[in-house]
Amino acid sequence: MIIQRPSAPFYIQFELTSSCNQSCFFCYNEMGGRSNSELSLNEIKSILDQLHAIGVYSINFNGGEPLIRKDFFEIAHYAHSLGFDLHLNSNATLIGENEAIEIAKYFPSVCVSVLSSNPEKHDKLTGYVGSYNRVSRGIDNLLKQNVKVEINVCTFTDNYRELYEIAKSFASEGLHVFCVTRYILNNPKEQSRLLGQQETIEVLDSLERIANDFKTYKEVKLPGPVPYCELSAEYVEKLRYWNTPCQVGYGVCRISPIGVVTPCPLSDEVMGDLRENSFENIWNSDGWEKFSNCIHVTKACIECEELNSCRGGCLGYDDALKKACLTPDTRKWRK
Ligand SMILES: C[S@@+](CC[C@H](N)C(=O)[O-])C[C@H]1O[C@@H](n2cnc3c(N)ncnc32)[C@H](O)[C@@H]1O
Ligand code: SF4
Ligand code: SF4
Repeated sequence: MIIQRPSAPFYIQFELTSSCNQSCFFCYNEMGGRSNSELSLNEIKSILDQLHAIGVYSINFNGGEPLIRKDFFEIAHYAHSLGFDLHLNSNATLIGENEAIEIAKYFPSVCVSVLSSNPEKHDKLTGYVGSYNRVSRGIDNLLKQNVKVEINVCTFTDNYRELYEIAKSFASEGLHVFCVTRYILNNPKEQSRLLGQQETIEVLDSLERIANDFKTYKEVKLPGPVPYCELSAEYVEKLRYWNTPCQVGYGVCRISPIGVVTPCPLSDEVMGDLRENSFENIWNSDGWEKFSNCIHVTKACIECEELNSCRGGCLGYDDALKKACLTPDTRKWRK
């Protein structure tokens, strides 16, 4: 299978900081460690100029918590003036009325993390007392400014049975997307929280019920691809419906808070450093072909008839399992 690599990625995950006012136990951000040499405003502007010149269409500002940066709105203003289609991931706890007014100038939609419909439980999972109330206030402020809101639930054994309740408690006009992302192991000690086969099947059932019952969600999504062979044959058609094929390395890449380019936010494979090289040179350097040739997946995937549709699951999910010396007993991993 060959995928034509475009002259620029369609979509960039641009992480503005690794700092955050919450300490979610599951956060992949901690995997790269924190750094005190994050990109300055001028460096970010120069990178945005390069992305504009090469033809990048869409940028998602991510983190850490992007709103922690004092110059966040200067960055947003500059990116907006260049004409990018802008998106934002935020925990929403720092979005008061004024911030929502500013956000509305640049972002048509914001993706907000919610972990439970129970305030105490949400606060425990984020390590921040009062978080749930602040998130709810942040969402209300955004909706008042006609900014659409997307909810993302990082899903693990503690909360996978709550998806329907979370969707129900937040369903309202303007809350247009409900996303469920399977927990990617950020710490080997947390492996009991990973979703197994049965839990994943229940998640698919919940997605179906949510899509049927709450029509204010224009989309219900499972953005992290799940390998088809992880579930028994009867669930493959369901997975085919919900699967979002991974675009790693040709449609998307990530810029880290210190200017390192990696194939996606969950991969720590360094493709280049924007403090040493231009984005165009990095994007055109050797090392990316494996993604367009689709040989970054396992040998079993390369030989599998489902590869075109399944695309072998999520690279970051696999890297995390490998680091913890875990190999699921599925076709994908058979030699
Ligand atoms: C790293 S956060 C940064 C933006 C912002 N602070 C927030 O929480 O939305 C971006 C998204 O990644 C998700 N996430 C973080 N760690 C994850 C993990 N280990 N597995 C799956 N999703 C994860 C969060 O739930 C959040 O929706
Ligand atoms: S709020 Fe976002 S960046 Fe902060 S710890 Fe939680 S998932 Fe990570
Ligand atoms: S072997 Fe690979 S491509 Fe085939 S179903 Fe499993 S993960 Fe998907």
